[in-house]
Amino acid sequence: MLIPTKFLLVTDLDNTLIGDDEGTIALNEKLATIGENFYLVYATGRSLSSYQQLCREFLERTGQSLLNPDFLITGVGSEIYLGHSLDREIDREWAEQISVSWLREAISILVKSMPELLPQPLAEQKLWKLSYFLNSSNNGEINKAIMQRLESQLKERGLEAQLIFSSNRDVDILPKNSGKGKAVKYLREKLGINRECTLVCGDSGNDITMFEQMTLGVIVSNSQIELLEWHKLHCHPDHYLAQSSYAWGILEAIAHFEHYLLMH
Ligand code: GLC
Ligand code: MG
Repeated sequence: MLIPTKFLLVTDLDNTLIGDDEGTIALNEKLATIGENFYLVYATGRSLSSYQQLCREFLERTGQSLLNPDFLITGVGSEIYLGHSLDREIDREWAEQISVSWLREAISILVKSMPELLPQPLAEQKLWKLSYFLNSSNNGEINKAIMQRLESQLKERGLEAQLIFSSNRDVDILPKNSGKGKAVKYLREKLGINRECTLVCGDSGNDITMFEQMTLGVIVSNSQIELLEWHKLHCHPDHYLAQSSYAWGILEAIAHFEHYLLMH
């Protein structure tokens, strides 16, 4: 007999869990029927305070609360928070791990020499994350070329970092050992949950590292071109391209993988 085990549901927020409030509420209701059988993780590009703002806005709009996640991955996988309370505690072990060979100041000086990269607001600049904008009305190829130039300049100076490009606009520079994918792997190992019992959900470039971990995955139908292109190139049977958008796509994927997730 197959015994239900706990699974890990990891979802991006903007344009994945959030985007169609009815879908988010329907997903919350579905998750309530699954009870204690899963850990919930939100993996977002937002900072902790911006996540809290999103929660307040959702409550104001819908009169309902977002589910409280067991773990919160913020800043594109540069910070992990534990616990359920509002003053969540940062995971120090993760912070220590990703700080190795992270030369934030030197990287920020280097980027100043590339005027195409405009700094995002100060609230988005974190200890383990530097964020910029490229001109989104540029042709995608032009922006890709700028990203390549940035990458080679970092390499030339021996500066180790990870570059994440999303929505033909957002540029995140993170420590080499961070990112949403590595953060999910770190949590999986902490919780002792294997890849087959993990479902990751996303819509854009900053979610690609989660899909690279080869867990189960859903790409919602409203996804950005960079994720759709990545999926085409790295087609994997455990990655499900949903027909529906936002949280409806997650619901579709849970139905698709349900037996697998709950009874693996
Ligand atoms: C979120 C963050 C931003 C980041 C983007 C893409 O919007 O606020 O800093 O660049 O996600 O990862
Ligand atoms: Mg998103």
